[in-house]
Formats: sequence, C-alpha cells, structure tokens
Amino acid sequence: MKHLIDIKDLSVEEIDDLIKVANDIIANKEKYSHKCDGKKLATLFFEPSTRTRLSFEAAMLELGGSVLGFSESSSSSVSKGESVADTIRVVGCYSDIIAMRHPKEGAPLVACEKSTVPIINAGDGGHNHPTQTLTDLLTISREKGRLNNLTIGLCGDLKFGRTVHSLATAMSRYSGIKFVLISPDELKMPDYIKKNVLEKNNIEYCETKSIEEHLPELDILYMTRVQKERFFNEDDYVRLKDYYILNKAKLENAKKDLSILHPLPRVNEISTDVDDDPRAKYFEQALCGKYIRMALILNMLGIK
Ligand code: NCD
Repeated sequence: MKHLIDIKDLSVEEIDDLIKVANDIIANKEKYSHKCDGKKLATLFFEPSTRTRLSFEAAMLELGGSVLGFSESSSSSVSKGESVADTIRVVGCYSDIIAMRHPKEGAPLVACEKSTVPIINAGDGGHNHPTQTLTDLLTISREKGRLNNLTIGLCGDLKFGRTVHSLATAMSRYSGIKFVLISPDELKMPDYIKKNVLEKNNIEYCETKSIEEHLPELDILYMTRVQKERFFNEDDYVRLKDYYILNKAKLENAKKDLSILHPLPRVNEISTDVDDDPRAKYFEQALCGKYIRMALILNMLGIK
C-alpha cells in the first residue's frame, strides 16, 4: 500500500505522470466523472484549512466518489483524548483513502504505520505539505511549460512555512534550478533543507532580506504568509508579519513572464493591486490544486 507523506515518496517520473493525468482531466473532465464511484475519501483535519480540504473533497466528488471527515479536532473524539493511531485505525474501516492535516510534525507518518488504507499528508506542522507542492508543480509546468531551468524566489516565512520546504525538496531534483531565499533573519530556511536538500543536490542558492534585489532575475516568485500559529511569542509575529508586502509598484523591474505564486491564504504579503496583474497566478494555482488531487486520488487507489 502506498502513502504520500513526503514529496520524495513520489519519483520524478511519477510526478510527471500525475501532471499528465491532471492535464488530461482538465481537458476531458467527463471522462473522469465516474472513476471513483463507490469510493470514499476521509478528510481528517486537526488544523484549519480552506483550499486543501475543500479541493480534496471537490476532487473526490468530481471523480464520482463520496467524502466524510471532520474539519476540526474539537468535533472528533480527539477532544476526548483519542490517539491519532486509534482514530486512523477506525476511520480506515469507513473509507478507502485518508487525507490528514495535523499540527504535529510527523503525525501522518505515525498514522500510516497503523493505517489499513492509503494516507495522504495534507500538511504536518511546519514540516511538509506534499500535495501543495504537487499543486505548485502543476501550476509551474502549465505556466512555464517546464520544470527545469528556472530561477525561483521563495519569500516570507521560510522557517515555519511547510509549503516551501516541500517545494524546495521537489525542485531540487530538476536541472538548472536556482533558488533565491528571501526572508528576515529570524525566518530563514532551516539548515536541514539547505544542507540535506539544496547543497546535497548541488542546487545554487543565495539568501537575502531584500525582495527587490533579485526580483529582475526571477521566473517564479513564491510568496508565503508569516505562520502566526507556529510562533511562541506574539510580539515576534507582530514585528515580522508585514516584513514583505508585494505591490504593483515593486513589480516594475520584474520579468514580463514572471509567475507570482502563493499557496494562500494571503494576509498582507501581496497587496490586492497585484491581483489583476497578468503575472499573478495564485488563484489559478488554487484551481490546479483540485485537478492534481484528482490525479493523486486515482493513482493512490490504483484506478487507471
Ligand atoms: C498553506 C498551509 O496550510 O501550509 N496553505 C495551503 O495549504 N494552501 C499555507 C499557509 O497556511 O500559509
């Protein structure tokens, strides 16, 4: 049985296949509308979510399947003290596949040891978010026509932002990738990603506090929210939350074919005056999230 806990659980070839299937779904939606008839997806969200949970549910519904689950731990027996392992064992009796989000790093890995059905990590604390990365890869490949030879700026909370950890890991397997890591000192990319992922794969990168400095070189600018819920100290959050605010004026020196991505939700880091710039792709990205999750569900359930 296959689980998706870390983006590296999928080979580059498997990711290419998922992107192909997602593109085919976009072009031929009706062909897929009964592929999951009779199948059930459980979404177990121990942490808030809009896009990830709803795009998983929309994905399963568009495949003809059904969905069940909870969107906060307070409405499940977790609030009575039930362990993740027990919850997963039980939900496996009621569903064919489980997508789970949890505030604790590693919780989905623990869950898959006890699970009788495939588990998808829909975000574990400040660690990983592999299905957001699949969403990002589909978006980049549709916008740029390639996943290699790209200069990618990752901007904002690179310390606690799980999306950038998974994205950096995924992109490090392609050729000609350069990263510009843009963050305040307090929110730098963790050493384990820089050493074990970027340096190990000979990926060129630089670190800077300035968003303007490298903007003209970027093919992709991936903005992120400062992850309020992971701060120990409210004052630190308040001091750092508006460190970057991308607006139309700042984009003047950027490439004409830059793609601006953001996993969303956005707080203040992208001003709404950027939304009608043709380079703003974050809402298209959110839509890609549904199609790549449809492809992933089919793959993990072994449905052709
Ligand atoms: C992200 C997450 O949950 O990590 N959101 C998402 O899944 N689209 C980003 C965030 O919450 O900032």
